[in-house]
Amino acid sequence: MEVIIQPNTDAAVELVSQLIAREVRANPRAILGLATGRTMESVYGRLVQLHRTEGLDFSRCCSFNLDEYVGLRADDKHSYRHYMNRLFFNQVNIDLRNTHLPDGAAADLETECQLYERRIQESGGIDLQLLGIGQTGHIGFNEPLSPWNSRTRVVTLVAETIRQNASLFGGADKMPRHAITMGVATILESKKCVLLATGTAKARIVAQTIEGTATTSIPATALQLHPHCTIVLDEAAAGELSRTRRRSQD
Ligand code: GLP
Repeated sequence: MEVIIQPNTDAAVELVSQLIAREVRANPRAILGLATGRTMESVYGRLVQLHRTEGLDFSRCCSFNLDEYVGLRADDKHSYRHYMNRLFFNQVNIDLRNTHLPDGAAADLETECQLYERRIQESGGIDLQLLGIGQTGHIGFNEPLSPWNSRTRVVTLVAETIRQNASLFGGADKMPRHAITMGVATILESKKCVLLATGTAKARIVAQTIEGTATTSIPATALQLHPHCTIVLDEAAAGELSRTRRRSQD
């Protein structure tokens, strides 16, 4: 794992956006693995800006998002499809037909999960997977004890995740209890991955992820096995790391 600590949130967001931009410039047909959550909102904001001001071209890119809530249709404003369309897809020149999220409203969820996994494989696999981290240590919605050989599947969200995201739904009682998520193995198969974590609330889980023993109790520790994983932090999220880890960006 390469750990890069930036002085503040803006600098961390800038670096992650530039890593994605670099991938897209080097490989206009990049298959991007995308993430949602509050942390990513400014990354998409910056990518939209790079598209508008520097002509960053997504027209031949293809994307696969990590996860989607079960039971929410694409036009539900709480769905991740809605989030992605609003914050990113509708503001850049990516072809919507090349953007993929699991369909949380599919009649047959099991088949939907298998199809999603197959579509990723048929695309040639994810070149760059963007990741956030939940305070449970989840990546995507792979909650603690998710097997490392897990693939796209339906999962039950743990209480802490529901607590963390309830305000986005106007209360825990309105929040779905299940989601479809890429599995840990699906994520580990990405050619490169970039995890962004900012703020003090993430400091403890970030330290466990980077410095702790790899364990299914903290799904993000699986990234220790990834051959090309970059973790970008601001000072606040790096606050509980025991060692100073700095590396300037070339
Ligand atoms: C959700 C997503 C995760 C994301 C997490 C972090 O749970 N399913 O993929 O990493 O949010 O969210 P935030 O950035 O809001 O802390």
